[in-house]
Amino acid sequence: MSIDTSQLAEDLIRRVEGAEDLRSLDDIRVEALGKKGRITAEMKQLGQLDAEARKAAGQALNQVKEQVAGAIERRKRDLETAALDAQLAAEAVDVSLPSRPERAGKLHPISQTIDEIVAILGQMGFEVAEGPDIEDDYKNFTALNIPPEHPARQMHDTFYLADEAGGVDMTTVLRTHTSPVQVRTMESREPPIRVIAPGRTYRSDSDMTHTPMFHQVEALVIDKVTHFGHLKGCLQDFCSAYFEVEDVPLRFRPSYFPFTEPSAEVDIGCSRKDGELRIGAGDDWLEILGCGMVHPKVLAMSGIDPDEYQGFAFGMGIERIAMLKYGIPDLRTFFDADLRWLDHYGFAPMEVPTLIRGLS
Ligand code: PHE
Repeated sequence: MSIDTSQLAEDLIRRVEGAEDLRSLDDIRVEALGKKGRITAEMKQLGQLDAEARKAAGQALNQVKEQVAGAIERRKRDLETAALDAQLAAEAVDVSLPSRPERAGKLHPISQTIDEIVAILGQMGFEVAEGPDIEDDYKNFTALNIPPEHPARQMHDTFYLADEAGGVDMTTVLRTHTSPVQVRTMESREPPIRVIAPGRTYRSDSDMTHTPMFHQVEALVIDKVTHFGHLKGCLQDFCSAYFEVEDVPLRFRPSYFPFTEPSAEVDIGCSRKDGELRIGAGDDWLEILGCGMVHPKVLAMSGIDPDEYQGFAFGMGIERIAMLKYGIPDLRTFFDADLRWLDHYGFAPMEVPTLIRGLS
């Protein structure tokens, strides 16, 4: 045998271990183990040896082959690990750097106020109910004891929709209040009922203090023993929690709604000294909602026996109570879509109001 296999192995393994990158490692692999490689060349020469020597040399060469292949495998893994480490180091993100300023979106005060109302009344056991903005005339009026030709329909300055012939479709309206959700709830559920329905409402009205679209929240409680005292307590608790003032003075003024009997409008006590409005103190009053005991006829029309059940309802203007709490002077600015206004009066989007943490 013409070569020293241990010398060959040592030589090749030293070259493998010295390979600086995957490419030169591959060149060495071809040179050692390839078809025209050194080990292959030695193998080819085996034929010249006699049987005994050929067996011994063959075994030795195979061993060299295995050793070199093993060395190549190890070196390959080392080089790959080093390459990955280098890449990780180069692409590392310094998480201790301050973040880039994000586009700071804000939550509209209407959304914030609805979230606050839902947080407070939700804790009192009210569920949120819904109805569509385009409502049928029956649920918006008739089922609320406002029959056709009733003068209360005019009070509402209703938006009617066009019919297919281009005339007025007298059977559908943009709902003028959230009270039709009372009807939807009573028609679809059995008492006891305890729901609130925040949402958009529409009236053909536009001036300093009225926008054609605005928001209300309706509340409805129906049970066997529910009485006016419950209504009063509920509103007292709601106002104290919402305005974050203990014992807000409330005043119930007798009023008229066709769907409640008796009916009242509720004012909260405030002061307006030096042009600054303060809720919960002083000798001035501000109207915030309409309410009353659900009219027996309304219960009966929606399939609830007025001899067995009674309850109360109230409807509150959301813009109004948002203006009072957050000192927003002009109703119309709610719908101007002015980003400077939103930046000033808006709320951080992820700060969901809760009673435990504080509403706002
Ligand atoms: N729906 C009435 C309004 O829009 C408010 C109201 C609701 C009054 C519920 C009484 C009971 O003016």
